[in-house]
Amino acid sequence: MDLMEAIRERHSVRSYNAKAIDGNVKMNLLSYIEQCNQESGLHMQLIMNEPKAFDGFMAHYGKFSGVRNYIAMIGKKEPGLEEKCGYYGEKVVLKAQQLGLNTCWVAMTYSKVRTAFQVEKGEKLCLVIAIGYGETKGTEHKVKQPEAVMKAEGPVPEWFQKGIEAALLAPTAMNQQKFCFTLKGNSVTAKAGTGFYTKIDLGIAKCHFEIGAGRENFSWGL
Ligand SMILES: Cc1cc2nc3c(=O)[nH]c(=O)nc-3n(C[C@H](O)[C@H](O)[C@H](O)COP(=O)(O)O)c2cc1C
Repeated sequence: MDLMEAIRERHSVRSYNAKAIDGNVKMNLLSYIEQCNQESGLHMQLIMNEPKAFDGFMAHYGKFSGVRNYIAMIGKKEPGLEEKCGYYGEKVVLKAQQLGLNTCWVAMTYSKVRTAFQVEKGEKLCLVIAIGYGETKGTEHKVKQPEAVMKAEGPVPEWFQKGIEAALLAPTAMNQQKFCFTLKGNSVTAKAGTGFYTKIDLGIAKCHFEIGAGRENFSWGL
């Protein structure tokens, strides 16, 4: 499964079966998380066999069941942490999809089990990603019109359109899709709208945009 297929197949899954993440899948996932931590300076941690985070009122209210594994998105408190968590967390989400796993980003409907992960001095836990073998594959989310999330002067190249399509398939908190991509020459700027978790959403959407557009076709502008 290539990354564009992973983007199309990924949907949030909130019910998981008891199958453990083990063998090659576990090894590949852990080594990819480590690679992303090295590249980003983040401190993402795969927490396994820890059912308490998704056993409280909030998780049931959020319709989660069978969640035993999750990725704790942790990093240094600094400007840009949220966007970085979104960007690298989504890389891991797509890798998980390629490995046959399902996921769901979770900012609100879980409990923080502080003994399960390590938060070093100066770091913070931003949110988690539930992960495991889903009872279902999830369903497609409602997608905005491309014009609602893009600005471009003159003709729009195909790569930009493909980037926007991929960004619109990105998970966002409450499916708000409050981002905007602007094209000037071969430079693309991406901005978050106002609201909860929009900086995390922006990082996720940028990860998808790069995959859809092809990194060789453009550079990120400020
Ligand atoms: C930053 C972020 C936070 C989220 N927080 C929660 C949450 O607390 N509870 C929940 O059930 N889903 C949560 N979600 C999942 C979104 O509701 C879901 O991604 C969105 O509705 C789009 O659906 P899809 O992921 O199936 O494409 C979150 C997603 C993101 C990106």
